[in-house]
Amino acid sequence: MPSKLSAAGDRRATTSSGGLFGEFFASKKSSTFDKNSLLDGRARRLFDLTRRACDAGVYPYQLPLEGRSGPWIEAEGRRMLMLSSYDYLGLIGDERVDAAAIEAVRKYGTGTGGVRLLTGTIDLHHQMESELAAFKGTSAAITFSSGYLANLAAVTSVLSPMDCVVLDSLAHRSLAEACKLAGVTVRRYAHNDCASLRHELESGPPSGRTMIVADGDFDGRRHLHLAGVDRHQEGIRVLFAGGRVPRHVRHRIDRARHR
Ligand SMILES: Cc1ncc(COP(=O)(O)O)c(C=O)c1O
Repeated sequence: MPSKLSAAGDRRATTSSGGLFGEFFASKKSSTFDKNSLLDGRARRLFDLTRRACDAGVYPYQLPLEGRSGPWIEAEGRRMLMLSSYDYLGLIGDERVDAAAIEAVRKYGTGTGGVRLLTGTIDLHHQMESELAAFKGTSAAITFSSGYLANLAAVTSVLSPMDCVVLDSLAHRSLAEACKLAGVTVRRYAHNDCASLRHELESGPPSGRTMIVADGDFDGRRHLHLAGVDRHQEGIRVLFAGGRVPRHVRHRIDRARHR
């Protein structure tokens, strides 16, 4: 594809912080009020850093794609290798997925006109969730429109302020904010460090229940074993949030639930 934009300066026009917020903060145009007073010091530093990254041509966010995503994408009139998407299964562009999406739009339109709780649930949601539950080996599943919301729900719906979360120090921000919302005590362990996890589990004050929250691909059984934690230990309940839950662990969790 021929390059629409050749000079670096032109290229920056679409990605610079000047482009963000309609150039509101970057433009030198005077306004009737002091627009910088809208930003606190931290935000001003962030905008400044963003602008410098844009000037250096290394600002990686909000790059508008000019076609479908995949291993290769078109952006700013150039073909680029995509190294940061989450299309791990390579299903973008899969003919079956495209065909199903087109059929769904024909049948249901492009929106439900409401949130899931009110008028926004369609039979496809239920179908997807029961298939996910069968795949995960659970009695039910629920999907969310973003990872952030899923994390908020997972923590706040299970825990109360009497409880404690032992949190990986590099866990996604949404998990830390979920803990705040749940009002739980938070103890942080060093990223993926089983000795540190063990230390936090052993040295914390008594709490109602303890949830260990890890980020990314986490083999719960292995980590607990490495941390020297007996998962049958009284007071420690483990919710395996990722991957398939091993059958014998699932039985223990179900039994604990019904006690
Ligand atoms: C581990 C993890 N949790 C949560 C999120 C938030 O997901 P979303 O951007 O869909 O809200 C992300 C997104 O990058 C993530 O990587």
